[in-house]
Amino acid sequence: MTEPLLRIESLAGGYGATRILHGIDLSVGSDGVTALLGANGAGKTTLMKTLAGVLPSTGGRIFFRGEEITGRNAAERVLAGIVLVPEGRLVFPELSVHENLRLGAVNRRARAGWRGALDEVNAIFPKLLERRHQAAATLSGGEQQMLAIGRGLMARPTLMLLDEPTLGLSPMMAHQMFDLIRTLSASITLLVAEQDVRRTLDVARRAYVIENGRVALEGDAGELAEDPKIRQAYLGL
Ligand SMILES: Nc1ncnc2c1ncn2[C@@H]1O[C@H](COP(=O)(O)OP(=O)(O)OP(=O)(O)O)[C@@H](O)[C@H]1O
Ligand SMILES: [Mg+2]
Repeated sequence: MTEPLLRIESLAGGYGATRILHGIDLSVGSDGVTALLGANGAGKTTLMKTLAGVLPSTGGRIFFRGEEITGRNAAERVLAGIVLVPEGRLVFPELSVHENLRLGAVNRRARAGWRGALDEVNAIFPKLLERRHQAAATLSGGEQQMLAIGRGLMARPTLMLLDEPTLGLSPMMAHQMFDLIRTLSASITLLVAEQDVRRTLDVARRAYVIENGRVALEGDAGELAEDPKIRQAYLGL
């Protein structure tokens, strides 16, 4: 069996003394989308932040491309190719679209090729090119989410951790976001946390369901979409 792109073993973590993740085992293969599902408060965001190194882990191990990265900080993980696009479209509101994108390419590996990366991002998001001089705060919600993803792409990730990309978007924008996730998945690997379980399982190959900081279910996305427990708990069927 080949080594998955990301593999975590018994990962524990949380906030200070509050333990949220109670030993998560998870693997992300190198192609396509892996879905991270679970109710509000299950620990999806905590897991993503711990993988990105913005929250410390308190137990377990993380391997990326076969190498252990448990001890590496957030900047070193970006350099290794792991980029988090956090929940809530955290763009720099005062800065222009262009400046926000440039800031995505601050890691050593991405800096040299930032023009090429910018061309790619502009090709994916023509709207961002059109609005490049505009302050990020003046973008619509959907455009801000695109900017947040565009900034993540500027770091030239191998693995993008995408946390609630459709949160607060109109149905039409959410629809476009899933098309975008599908498009991105042709060139990078994605771990996507989402409330829209049906559409996420549709674009994903594999899925994990997190409950109370533990993996409750995992499997092939198509099979999970048919699982009676998932259908009842998450698809309202
Ligand atoms: N900064 C914090 N300090 C203490 N506890 C926190 C903090 N942030 C989150 N938590 C707690 O951690 C638990 C998991 O939260 P987390 O944000 O990881 O859930 P989630 O699965 O992403 O939920 P959602 O679907 O609502 O985004 C929750 O009980 C939450 O209250
Ligand atoms: Mg969350």
